[in-house]
Amino acid sequence: EDIMYLKEYEDWFVLESDQLKKITDHFVKELEKGLTKEGGNIVSFGPNLDQVTTPMNVTWVMGFPSGHETGRILTLDMGGTNLRVCDVCLSTRKRDFEQTQRKYKLPDEVKTGTGEQLWDFIAGRLETFLHEHHNGGRTGTTLPLSFTFSFPVDQKSIRSGVLQRWTKNFNVTGVEGQDIIPQLEAAFQRKNLPVRIVALINDTTGTLIASHYRDPQVKVGSIFSTGCNAAYMEECELIPKLADSGLPKNAKVIINTEYGAFDNDRKILPLTPFDRQIDHESARPGTQIYEKMVSGLYIGEMLRLIMLKLHEEGRLFKDQDVTRLRNENALEASFLSVAEMDFSDRLDDMREEFEESLGLSPSLHELRICRYLIGLVATRAARLYACGIAAICKKKNLRRCHIGVDGSVFNRYSGFKGRAAQALREIFDWPPTELELIALNAFEDGSGVGAALAAALVLEGEEKAK
Ligand code: BG6
Ligand code: GLC
Repeated sequence: EDIMYLKEYEDWFVLESDQLKKITDHFVKELEKGLTKEGGNIVSFGPNLDQVTTPMNVTWVMGFPSGHETGRILTLDMGGTNLRVCDVCLSTRKRDFEQTQRKYKLPDEVKTGTGEQLWDFIAGRLETFLHEHHNGGRTGTTLPLSFTFSFPVDQKSIRSGVLQRWTKNFNVTGVEGQDIIPQLEAAFQRKNLPVRIVALINDTTGTLIASHYRDPQVKVGSIFSTGCNAAYMEECELIPKLADSGLPKNAKVIINTEYGAFDNDRKILPLTPFDRQIDHESARPGTQIYEKMVSGLYIGEMLRLIMLKLHEEGRLFKDQDVTRLRNENALEASFLSVAEMDFSDRLDDMREEFEESLGLSPSLHELRICRYLIGLVATRAARLYACGIAAICKKKNLRRCHIGVDGSVFNRYSGFKGRAAQALREIFDWPPTELELIALNAFEDGSGVGAALAAALVLEGEEKAK
C-alpha cells in the first residue's frame, strides 16, 4: 500500500542533530535575555501576550538547604491535574523526612471558573485534610504552610507573587495580574483555617530543592508532565534585572525559567500546521509555544489532529464512525504511551486503547501507521525537551551533572527518557563510549518536600532576624 504520504510527516516532525544544536544555541540567548532589564521587563499580561520572552522569574530562594532543617510544615501543591496536600515532618536526622500526602483531582469547572471558586476549592480540601490528619487543625498554634503554585508569577519576595498569566489551558477569572497570596489567605480566613503562608514556590523550584537535597549533583530541577519547565541556581551578579536590589556580590538565587514560553516570538521552532492549530485553539493563543510542542497536555491532541486529517484525506479509518475522534482533547498522553509499549505482533493492547478511547476498530495496517506517527510526535517532544535542559547546562557551563525531573509523563512514558538522553548526546557530541555526562534522573513527588524545605529556610531566616 501507498505510505509515501508519511514522508510529509517525517519532514515536519523529525529533528536532526544540527537543528537541535541551533535551537539550543538560540535558547541560551533567550535565557540570557530573560535575565536582563529589557527582556525581563516586558509586561507578561495584558494586550501584548505574544511579545513575552522567556520570563526567568526570580524566586527569592537564595540557597540550598543544608540538610539539617527541621520542623513540621504543611504544603499545598497545585500543578496541572491534581491538588496535593502534604504534611511534611523534616527530621533531625540529616536529609530525612516523613510525609502524609493526599491527592485531589482538580475538576475542570475549577480550572475555568472564578478566582474565588478556585481558592475556596483549595481551602476546602485543606480543611478536609486538617480534619483527617491534623487533629482538625486544633493544635492551638498557627501552622506554617508552603504553597507550590505551578504557574508563572512575578515575585517581590518569597511570600508574594503576581500571576503573569495562566498556562496549561487554565482560565480562571480575576487572578491574572493580581497577587495570589492575599486571595488564598482570604479563602483560608473564610474557613477559619489556622495556617500561615510562609513561602510561595514553583514546582520546578520545589523539584530542584528536593532532588538537590537527595543528590547534591543535581543542578537543574525540571517538570515534564501537563506542562514543561525548569529551574536552576544563578549568581545574582549575572542577573542584570537585579542590579539595583542591593544584594551581596556573592548572592545566588533560584531562577524559575518558565521556558515553556520559549520562542513565543516564533524565531526558531519548526512549527507544523498542527502546532499552529493547537496554539490557535488553546485558552491563551500566542503563549507557551515551546510547551505546546512538547508537554503531556498537548501531545495527545497533536496525534488526534494528525489522525483526523488523515481520515479526512481518506487514508485512515475509512467507513468508520469517527465521532469521538472529532472531540477536542479526546486523547491523553497515556494513549501514546500504551501504544508505544505494545510490542506484540497483533498490537492488541493498542487496538483495545483505540476501542476504549475512540470507539474505533482499526486494521493492523492502520495501527502500524498510527504507531509510527505516535513515535514521530513523542520523539520530537523528547528531543525538543532536551534542548531546554541542554541550554541551561550550556549557559551555566555544566558539563557533568544530574537533572532532577518530576511529573507523571516523564515517570510513566517509558521511552521518553531514553529519547531525551539520546538527544542530549547529539547536542553535546558525547562520544558513544562516554556515559551520560548530564543524566536525567526521576525524582517522584519531591515537590512536597521541596516546598517544606523552602519554608524551613524562610523560618530559619525569621528566627535569626529575631
Ligand atoms: C508532581 C510534582 O509529581 O508532578 C508536582 O510533585 C508537579 O509538583 C506535578 O506539579 C506535575 O504533574 P501534573 O500532571 O499535575 O502536571
Ligand atoms: C507550566 C507552568 C510552570 C510549571 C510547568 C510544569 O509551564 O507555567 O510554572 O512549572 O507548567 O508544571
